Amino acid sequence: MREIIQSLASIKEQFASSIPAFSSTADVEAARVRFLGKKGELTAVLRVMGGLTAEQRPIVGQQANEVRSFIEQSLAEKLSEIAALEASDRLKKQKIDVTLPGIMSQTGSRHPLTQVIDEICNIFLGLGYQIAEGPEVEFDEYAFERLRLPKGHPARDTQDTFYITDNILLRPQTSPVQVRVMEVSKPPIKIVCPGKVYRADTLDSTHSPIFHQIEGLVVDTNVTMGDLIGSLQLFAKKLFGDSTDIRLRPHHFPFTEPSCEVDISCWGCAGKGCRICKNEGWIEVLGAGMVHPEVLSGCGIDPEVYSGFAFGIGVERTAMGRFGIDDIRLLYENDMRFLRQFR
Ligand code: DAH
Repeated sequence: MREIIQSLASIKEQFASSIPAFSSTADVEAARVRFLGKKGELTAVLRVMGGLTAEQRPIVGQQANEVRSFIEQSLAEKLSEIAALEASDRLKKQKIDVTLPGIMSQTGSRHPLTQVIDEICNIFLGLGYQIAEGPEVEFDEYAFERLRLPKGHPARDTQDTFYITDNILLRPQTSPVQVRVMEVSKPPIKIVCPGKVYRADTLDSTHSPIFHQIEGLVVDTNVTMGDLIGSLQLFAKKLFGDSTDIRLRPHHFPFTEPSCEVDISCWGCAGKGCRICKNEGWIEVLGAGMVHPEVLSGCGIDPEVYSGFAFGIGVERTAMGRFGIDDIRLLYENDMRFLRQFR
């Protein structure tokens, strides 16, 4: 019994002498395990109490309880002391100087091409059109053949593109979407289709092998060239201002008849002639026409009942005019100094 009482006393002493070294909650936890844990020192001593007599046991038991509650209480005190220290330490570290200037977060903005695409689409949405989309990797059939450009047709030259196989290519215009929409829907049809197009052109200040178009298509009963002109006039005024005029020049597209190219009165000089329009007074921004009857019938739409108009707007040209950009390459270089001007 003596030995046990001595062990208890020495546990208490050892514990007491280790207290000053506790410097973190982890130290306190380690001490709890060491002295009070299942495999701890106090437990080990209590385990041999079985060998004591009935008189000895309560005496030793009382001692053991004292040591246990001393340890428990000390651990609790130490723990709250250390926790308070750690909390105040954390606060010190996290102290912020509210007088320091803030860090500006960099917010992005829409690319000028995206801005123009959104603006144009919104104008047509306001006129009751819907947005349609089509694949950039397209079959020759949709890109050319069903638009009345059979293989070997000379008009393919101006739209030479990149071929993946003989029959799969990167679309050189958004016009194939017309066919894709018409073959799965019935008139009335009123859609605009914005998207990327590709041509085997060399990059210079006015050409790029990748650019954007917005295709428009309206098919219904009694659609006339007058509707086309009226719609494009309204579009031009909404985009470039009320004093803007349009001019139609006869042209040839195999998929429309009659066809035209459409100019917009120069936003720089209102038609007088300036650097932007190369003294022409007009700037070409789109091609258009009345959908060819064979294109309609090829999509299962009866040209005796329905007629339609279509147009294809050059987005880059429109954006360059709108923002006074004189080199198409600036639009693709991702130079922040350039892009920041269009926030
Ligand atoms: N796809 C033509 C081009 O890239 C533009 C065009 C002309 C689109 C007439 C049309 C259209 O829808 O009817 O030059």
